[in-house]
Amino acid sequence: MTTRRLADDAVQPDSFAFSPENADWVKTQVAKFPEGRQASAVIPLLWRAQEQEGWVSRAAIEETARLLDMPTIRVLEVATFYFMFQLSPTGSNAHIQVCGTTPCMLCGAESLVSVCETLIGPAHAVSADGLLSWEEVECLGACANAPMAQIDSWVKGGFHSDYYEDLDKDGFAAIIEAFRAGGYPKPGSQTGRFASEPLGAQTSLTADHTEHHNAAVAAAITEGAA
Ligand code: FES
Repeated sequence: MTTRRLADDAVQPDSFAFSPENADWVKTQVAKFPEGRQASAVIPLLWRAQEQEGWVSRAAIEETARLLDMPTIRVLEVATFYFMFQLSPTGSNAHIQVCGTTPCMLCGAESLVSVCETLIGPAHAVSADGLLSWEEVECLGACANAPMAQIDSWVKGGFHSDYYEDLDKDGFAAIIEAFRAGGYPKPGSQTGRFASEPLGAQTSLTADHTEHHNAAVAAAITEGAA
């Protein structure tokens, strides 16, 4: 687990404001909740702040607290609890989260980490060109398609947050360089899997059960029912 604390004062902006478009969106989110329950919108607002700025600064936390009429410490607790929120500046093109939990580690996550260290630099620091950053995270729930990484990107005119699965060292390096060049590599399995089906032939539930039905199905077939 990584330590979750705010970034140094040196990188904290003096202020934060939602863009006019996002400010309108904030009003629609807050209006979804009954009077006095606006705090329920805290996670969507923090996420939108991150989409806008690339990370969640102290000023963004304070502004979110003000908009939701919450004590700042309550918003700080949320922002520091969930690792989906970046508490220090990220690369302007992409921030890469490499899963390092056991299934991904057994399938090669350590080689993905070394690719990040080589192409980007130390974890939780922005690359020298300012375009990329990375970190190692806990299981992202795509273990069947290990090893994998989630990549948040601000390319091609919009924010994207995608899973890249079935990765290998060379393919992952190519994805990182594509993001560095401002591209948007195709998300999902990199080996052509549609979802999380077996990599090879089916190994379970292979018996032919067409002649074995439960009583209801057997009766329906006997009676010629649909
Ligand atoms: S262990 Fe990597 S997604 Fe679950």
